[in-house]
Amino acid sequence: MLRSFLLFLSREQRLRRWMETSPVAHRWAHRFVAGDTLDQALRACRRVNTEGISATLDYLGENVRTRQEAAQCRDAYLRTLGAIVENGIESHVSLKLTQFGIDVDEDACLENVRSLVKCAADANTFVRVDMESSAYTSRTLRLVEDLHVRYGACGTVIQAYLHRSGDDIERLNARRIRVRLCKGAYLEPPSVAFQHKRDVDRNYLNLARVLLGRGNYPAIATHDEAIVRDILAYSRRNSISPDRFEFQMLYGIRRDLQRKLVADGYRLRLYIPYGEAWYPYFMRRLAERPANLLFLAKNLFRE
Ligand code: FDA
Repeated sequence: MLRSFLLFLSREQRLRRWMETSPVAHRWAHRFVAGDTLDQALRACRRVNTEGISATLDYLGENVRTRQEAAQCRDAYLRTLGAIVENGIESHVSLKLTQFGIDVDEDACLENVRSLVKCAADANTFVRVDMESSAYTSRTLRLVEDLHVRYGACGTVIQAYLHRSGDDIERLNARRIRVRLCKGAYLEPPSVAFQHKRDVDRNYLNLARVLLGRGNYPAIATHDEAIVRDILAYSRRNSISPDRFEFQMLYGIRRDLQRKLVADGYRLRLYIPYGEAWYPYFMRRLAERPANLLFLAKNLFRE
């Protein structure tokens, strides 16, 4: 219930306007967001790089309404990629198609992403196209497949809560497209998605095993310790060496588990968001763990 309510609020524009301009809410967001500026994001990357952790930078923003906004986003990403390469930072970028204008003009969106993926290919780095709600799944996969044939240098995300994900993974594996596997962060109906955590977790493990066996350098994106333990045991049993996959986690979440994985010799990449449009991202993080609300309330009390 609370999860659904928080996900509903994540699309509320008035609350969004208030939150993104409120200094208090701004401080809350900094638990999950590296900062407003590229410089702050690069600083966060350097910090995690020194701990043996790589990064993927997300310039926050989604559901842009004009071609111009989409082009501004593309330019911000081009600057981010340029700064990563110039500064020798161990990081990719992750983007959302609604930020690159898919709702405004699908061809222009493809062109925006194409220019970024081409740059990534030239610089020998990588673009991850995040997965949004199920309304975008097929279009996202089509776009990534198209760009992958032309440039390589890009991959996408599969959500274990969707019923269709097993088939999607087979298709992506056959094309050697890199997959990040996550549970899924949007509100979806029972017709398209599992509704209970135990079903999502079971599907996650099944899909992760398929990816570890036949995928191209899959990313296991979760903070779920039981799943992480299972993956480690499975990879050891099947002699899958730690350099054939990586774990991914979100900035600011389960730092203890992050450190342990790195100390045990596993690869870890942190998803580091930055930028002023942090509200929908922040609300999805609250919805994943409503206990975070208590944490925020306590901080509010202190301030
Ligand atoms: P689960 O939600 O079961 O949580 C397991 C444990 O992790 C919790 O008990 C808690 O300890 C900790 N935890 C999880 N979330 C937390 C939070 N917000 N605050 C504090 N603790 C928390 N989704 C999507 O739909 N499209 C995408 O493209 C991506 N991309 C993506 C990239 C990366 C690197 C990650 C790690 C995740 C995503 N996600 C995503 C989000 C994903 O779908 C999912 O919502 C979250 O990862 C939470 O699920 P867990 O697998 O962590 O398990």
